[in-house]
Amino acid sequence: MSVSESARDLARPVAVEPEWYAAPPTGCQSGDIAHVILTEAQINTRIRELGAAITRDYWQAAQSGPLLAIITLRGAVAFAADLVRAIDLPVELDFISASSYGSSATTSGSVQILKDLDSDLNQRHALIIEDIIDTGLTLSKLITMLDARQPTSMRVCALLDKNKPCPVRNEPGRLAYTGFSIPDAFVVGYGLDYNQRYRNLPYIGVLKPEIYSPEQQR
Ligand code: PRP
Repeated sequence: MSVSESARDLARPVAVEPEWYAAPPTGCQSGDIAHVILTEAQINTRIRELGAAITRDYWQAAQSGPLLAIITLRGAVAFAADLVRAIDLPVELDFISASSYGSSATTSGSVQILKDLDSDLNQRHALIIEDIIDTGLTLSKLITMLDARQPTSMRVCALLDKNKPCPVRNEPGRLAYTGFSIPDAFVVGYGLDYNQRYRNLPYIGVLKPEIYSPEQQR
C-alpha cells in the first residue's frame, strides 16, 4: 500500500499497481495463473481497513439493531467471512444467489436469482457484500429487487471494482466501500471462479488466457 493510512479515506478503493504483480506461489492450480495481482497479505490488510470504516459508519445505527450483511453467493463467501470478522458491531448474515455468468467467461446480460434472502429487509440497515463489480449488472438487479423491500438503508461493500460505467455508480453513497480498483482482466481466486474452479486460492490472480476462450475477458 503506497498511500499513507492517515491521508486517505479507508472506504475509498486502493488502485492495484502493475508493480505489485508477482508470480504465483507454488501450488497445484498455480500453473493456470499468469500472475498474482493481490496477495493474501494485501487482501487481509485492506479488509481490516474496510472493517474499521464500516464499524465507524454504522456505530450509531447499530444501537437500534444489528447490521444485516447480505452476502452474494458464491463469489463473496471468502471475502465476507473475513470482512464480517473485521466489523466490531453486531452483524447478522444472510445470503442471496444471483448468477449471470453460469459456466461462461462473459456475462449473459440476464441475471437469475437462484436463492433469495431469508430475512425481512423492512426497516433494516443492510450492507450488500460483493466480491467484484464487473459490468455491474448483478448489483443493479439485486439493488432494484431489494430496494423494493424498503430497508432503512442499503449500501454496498465490494472487494474489487473494474470501474466500468453502470447505473449503480450514479446513486450517491451506494457504492460506499470498495477494496481495490483493478484492471479489466479475468481474475480468479479468493472466492472468484472460472467454471467453479480457483475459488479456494488464497490470493487473486489473472487467469492465463489459454484456460478460457481467448477472445473473451471478464
Ligand atoms: C460474479 C461475481 C459477481 C458478478 C459480477 O458472479 O460474484 O456477483 O459476477 O459481475 P457483473 O458486475 O458483470 O454482474 P457469478 O454470476 O459468476 O456467480 P458466482 O458469485 O457464483 O461466481
